[in-house]
Amino acid sequence: MQAKISKTVHSLGCVVAGVAAFLGQGSAMAADAQVNVICSVQAEWCNMISTVYARTTGTKINMSLKGSGEALAQLIAEKDNPKTDVWFGGTGDPHLQAGEQGLSMAYQSPTLTQLHPWAQQQAQQSGFKTVGIYSGPLGFGYNTELMAKKKLSIPKTWADLLKPEYKGEIQVANPASSGTAYTMIATLVQLMGEDKAFDYLKALHKNVSQYTRSGTGPIKAVARGETAISISFVHDGPGEKMQGFPVETITPSDGTGAEIGSMSLIKGSRNGDAAKKFYEWALTPAAQEMAVAAKQFQVSSNKNCKSDARIPDFKKIKFVNYDYAKYGASAERRRLISRWEKDVNSLPK
Ligand code: G6P
Repeated sequence: MQAKISKTVHSLGCVVAGVAAFLGQGSAMAADAQVNVICSVQAEWCNMISTVYARTTGTKINMSLKGSGEALAQLIAEKDNPKTDVWFGGTGDPHLQAGEQGLSMAYQSPTLTQLHPWAQQQAQQSGFKTVGIYSGPLGFGYNTELMAKKKLSIPKTWADLLKPEYKGEIQVANPASSGTAYTMIATLVQLMGEDKAFDYLKALHKNVSQYTRSGTGPIKAVARGETAISISFVHDGPGEKMQGFPVETITPSDGTGAEIGSMSLIKGSRNGDAAKKFYEWALTPAAQEMAVAAKQFQVSSNKNCKSDARIPDFKKIKFVNYDYAKYGASAERRRLISRWEKDVNSLPK
């Protein structure tokens, strides 16, 4: 009996000691290991990286989801007292603007040499205040069933989108909140010249039923049959198709732009060391390949990532020679967005 009791006490003691050790370890981790991330890619991808990173490292990720333009606005608002440590994803132009405005921190990752030249160029152009994590082309999405039902032809060029048959059938995002829509404006300006691009946007306005807040709103509306056509990143198409929606994408034959989805470390952030660890992890092939697992089909910036047949083939697409430095400059981005508000968005339909 005595032996049994002492054995019980002993094993309980072991459990308690074990739990205490575990709690000790846990609280030590919790004290210094958390990262506040603004995530500007789709929710599935944001959720996957935060869950996997937390499980594998013990570091808590506090994640908030924001479009590229909205993320930049938040970082400007919290400049004197930053609450964000890392800005993950979203189009590169506002990341360059954040760098120029002193919101992000210069950091040269040892992994840079493993990245594609376009991702390294994004880092160099910003004085290493941001880095490319993915890239993808802009194009059109369309609902095959709705197009057939309404007897609409598939648009093949930017000019095609102005056809009267598409009146009220097109959705695109608002460039103030969405990096996708700003990429469209910058692309058109580079393709046509600024005045012609704005004449084009005014004409397009007649066919647009809605300017959505987020860049992926329009292709989701296409997928669900709420609108026939969207102006979207074409890598956002396959994920919708995989869910069974009748969506196809096309890139305009007269030329298009591509985003350099980027990542930045925030200057004066509270969890600097943990933020750098997360940033380094996000540049590894293992982390970047999670995009495909989360049904996201951009080209990853790490050259060692596995390819996937659903990722758009850049060799088959005609691109404008997108000047990232020029269109990521604060004054230019602000000027083009306010010209769009004044000349286009204020017009009646
Ligand atoms: C989607 C795309 C990303 C892009 C982002 C921009 O998540 O998959 O490649 O960077 O939209 O979002 P925004 O709302 O700023 O247009």
